[in-house]
Amino acid sequence: MKLPKWRKLRTLALLFCAITVTTFLFTFTFWDPSSRFYKHPFHLLASSKGQCACQQCMTELEDDDAWFTERFNLSVHPLMTRDNSALSDDTFNWWQWLQSESRPANFSEVVDELFQVIPDEVLYMDAGPERCRTCSVVGNSGNLKGSQYGRLIDSSHFIIRMNQAPTAGFEEDVGSRTTHHVMYPESAIDLDNATMLVLIPFKTLDLQWIISALTTGTVKYTYVPVKSRIKANKDNVLIYNPTFFKYIYESWLEGHGRYPSTGFLSLMLAVHICDEVNVFGFGADQAGNWHHYWEDNLLSGAFRHTGVHDGDFEYKVTQLLADKHKIQMFKGR
Ligand SMILES: *[C@@H]1O[C@H](CO)[C@@H](O)[C@H](O)[C@H]1NC(C)=O
Ligand SMILES: *[C@@H]1O[C@H](CO)[C@@H](O)[C@H](O)[C@H]1NC(C)=O
Ligand SMILES: *[C@@H]1O[C@H](CO)[C@@H](O)[C@H](O)[C@H]1NC(C)=O
Repeated sequence: MKLPKWRKLRTLALLFCAITVTTFLFTFTFWDPSSRFYKHPFHLLASSKGQCACQQCMTELEDDDAWFTERFNLSVHPLMTRDNSALSDDTFNWWQWLQSESRPANFSEVVDELFQVIPDEVLYMDAGPERCRTCSVVGNSGNLKGSQYGRLIDSSHFIIRMNQAPTAGFEEDVGSRTTHHVMYPESAIDLDNATMLVLIPFKTLDLQWIISALTTGTVKYTYVPVKSRIKANKDNVLIYNPTFFKYIYESWLEGHGRYPSTGFLSLMLAVHICDEVNVFGFGADQAGNWHHYWEDNLLSGAFRHTGVHDGDFEYKVTQLLADKHKIQMFKGR
């Protein structure tokens, strides 16, 4: 077919435009700005089998995943809502025994009051082929010191820290963003307006404390003096569900220790609400020493064997999750 010259030129120009636009769209479709990875479409096809939109998905099963599937149960909600707040007698008795109170307040009345102060929403239980939620769980180990993990930690969608966990002055090693801060009344710190406060309650009084700490400030003492007020956004408060707490203890720790540590509970929260979990600052440093990254003095051996937590068993389970590619462990220095 013989086209006039101007039509040839127009066809070429159109073709050029089409290629440019396609390349542009393609690049932006697969470039995830919140992640350090360029998501090549062949990786998406090859690796995640449609369980989620990340390269690695929590719910994606490998051949030898019996150990994982026997334990992993997505129908136990990690966070408390009005609807899932009713505890079975079994759960209530176990939970109330953790830090036994002599005369606990009426649990359902306290929960009722709680959800008048904080929002009642089902969050994060939206796993599916469209979702890629990457999470950094940041423990407080001294192995973070000099690790230069800051940028890597900050590149996840969620950055979960716990207890004191200062970032100011340690940004290069621990990062600066915090989306979720896990704490209990005795370890509470002030947060900025955007950070989610995740409270782990060990007793009914802890729920009364969070109500009070966000409003009147009347609860000043649990079994030790506690902060009577806390700086945090009431709309960003989440409560770790006691039913989930017990499930973690029984299914994952098989009853080892008296109850799971904050670190393990935070890790397990991530395993249940994230598609990709990166773990930092857990365990001893390379020299086998235990300390916090913000302190120079070493923690005594008693720290690992308090009788409350079974650190060795928790570490074994964490290592198994890493071996089975469910989480990635960054061991620092
Ligand atoms: C998962 O948890 C739900 C709710 O507690 C329970 O009914 C169900 O039996 C559990 N599934 C497995 C496989 O353990
Ligand atoms: C707690 O309060 C509710 C509602 O006010 C009541 O129905 C329930 O019997 C109370 N439970 C206990 C153990 O006193
Ligand atoms: C904190 O966030 C809330 C929304 O959750 C907003 O209404 C409020 O203005 C913010 N406060 C500050 C001091 O930024």
